[in-house]
Amino acid sequence: MIWVGEMADGDVLDLIGAANDAAAVLRRVPRHVALIMDGNGRWASKRGLPRFEGHRRGVEALRRAVRAAIELRIEYLTVYSFSVENWSRPREEVQGLLGLLHRFIRKDLAELDANNVRVQVIGARSDLPSDVADLLLEAERDTKENTGLTLVVAFNYGARQEIAAAARALAQEVLEGRLSLSEIDAGAIASRLHTADIPDPDLIIRTSGEQRLSNFLLWQAAYAEFVFLPINWPDFDKAAFEAAISDYSNRDRRFGQLGSVACNAKTAS
Ligand code: IPE
Ligand code: IPE
Ligand code: MG
Repeated sequence: MIWVGEMADGDVLDLIGAANDAAAVLRRVPRHVALIMDGNGRWASKRGLPRFEGHRRGVEALRRAVRAAIELRIEYLTVYSFSVENWSRPREEVQGLLGLLHRFIRKDLAELDANNVRVQVIGARSDLPSDVADLLLEAERDTKENTGLTLVVAFNYGARQEIAAAARALAQEVLEGRLSLSEIDAGAIASRLHTADIPDPDLIIRTSGEQRLSNFLLWQAAYAEFVFLPINWPDFDKAAFEAAISDYSNRDRRFGQLGSVACNAKTAS
């Protein structure tokens, strides 16, 4: 037996971390939460402010969400920050959003790194302006050894485009004789998505009151639970996050099998 007094600081922290992880499992905290951060524009227009101000306040809400995810011992947090369809917004708004992404990575990367956060980016890289692509690569490279929360940033992301790219990759492998048709199954598709090494989301939260996926994680969401919140994204805080998780923890996830209620009834009879 090792006494706490004999342990190095790092060991004590590991021990506390392990105990917190176990507590998170007992509290039925989802392993992977995905956030559709919607309603910045409405938040601003309700207050007579320009849409950009809503986006700026949205970044503050994102910082709160990351902090809360760390405290709640969530392993993966995916945030939908810019969809492929968002390029068709007015040029000025797109420029504003790109500027905020720049500033977020420049300003927050060191703090994310200090908090042991690993950043991963999903979405199409090839058609991004090179400065943006470099910045995303830098965020991934600088944090790749971290072992705490994985923050998955969905940028220039579209689920249909992601699935089409996976289909293209599979077709190419078949054409080159590296893959047979019978090997194309759900696993083969999943392993060619941007999320190949990320578990499926357990819980998807969308703010703003809209109840749709808007081309987000269509494949990965097959068995996700959904929580739709009536608040706009800039108002999202730890209390809203905890309320969504509490809702999730009372759900009976069945994955096509018999749920726990049906199983208990079966064992009792
Ligand atoms: C979410 O807020 C941010 C992005 C989509 C980039 P919106 O800008 O969609 O705000 P609403 O939905 O118009 O209120
Ligand atoms: C989804 O929000 C995309 C992001 C949150 C980045 P949108 O505001 O673009 O979705 P729609 O247009 O309401 O479906
Ligand atoms: Mg919106």
